[in-house]
Amino acid sequence: MARTIAVANQKGGVAKTTSAVALGAAIAETGARVLLVDLDPQASLSYSLGLDPDSLDVTIHDVLVGRVPIGKTIHQLAEADVVPSNIDLAGAEAYLLTRTGREYAVKTALEDIEVHYNYILIDCPPSLGVLTINALTAADEVIIPLQCEALSHRGVGQLLETIEDVRRITNKHLAVRGIIATMFDPRTQHSRQILDDVGRRYSLEVMQPPIRKSIRFAEAPRAGKSILRYASTHPGALAYREIARSLIA
Ligand SMILES: Nc1ncnc2c1ncn2[C@@H]1O[C@H](COP(=O)(O)OP(=O)(O)O)[C@@H](O)[C@H]1O
Ligand SMILES: [Mg+2]
Repeated sequence: MARTIAVANQKGGVAKTTSAVALGAAIAETGARVLLVDLDPQASLSYSLGLDPDSLDVTIHDVLVGRVPIGKTIHQLAEADVVPSNIDLAGAEAYLLTRTGREYAVKTALEDIEVHYNYILIDCPPSLGVLTINALTAADEVIIPLQCEALSHRGVGQLLETIEDVRRITNKHLAVRGIIATMFDPRTQHSRQILDDVGRRYSLEVMQPPIRKSIRFAEAPRAGKSILRYASTHPGALAYREIARSLIA
């Protein structure tokens, strides 16, 4: 049985996709079988691993509306296997809302293929809508990327309330694995303090090390690669490898 990890934060631009891709690549490097699931209609994960979302025949959307089995959507890429998405997925939200058991669509789809994987990472969209609820319902654990800036904790409370609802209603064993501190700037006095505050306020583990801010992270997706393959010895790649090690330890 695969261990399923959702990467979630309803705020956009906090490095959910970057973290899902980098952790997936880092875990795959250890020899584990990894599946990355793009659950964002914006399809950044698909795009950043070199796929062209607009020219895909089938995506996670077709799976969620019951049109194709998930196995038919998998791409075997250099980093890991990927279930891509595209803008069609925006329509799945409305479709799912009309269905009984709508929270379980992703979980049910993954049951078909999870024997083939050790780890499944789900990249969530920037909302707390039905897609994110689906990811949290399918997951064993959730990781929360958080940008190290003032007020970055706002919204974490709301996310934790949603996680609490999911635990109560659809997935009682969901665990919060911790926070990944992203776009960390060690020169900013406040960075470290913000991290400590957020961790303490919500009793969450801040996974080590923080991921520093670097232009390399914006370059890698344009090359269709994870930071690990784009700049294998870059401190950002090393940091994600270290987090991945502690995740799978
Ligand atoms: N450590 C980092 N330093 C600098 N830029 C980063 C870093 N991590 C991610 N980024 C960039 O920030 C932007 C948002 O990241 P992304 O992973 O797409 O966030 P999200 O999925 O939460 O919306 C992207 O352009 C990405 O390349
Ligand atoms: Mg994203």
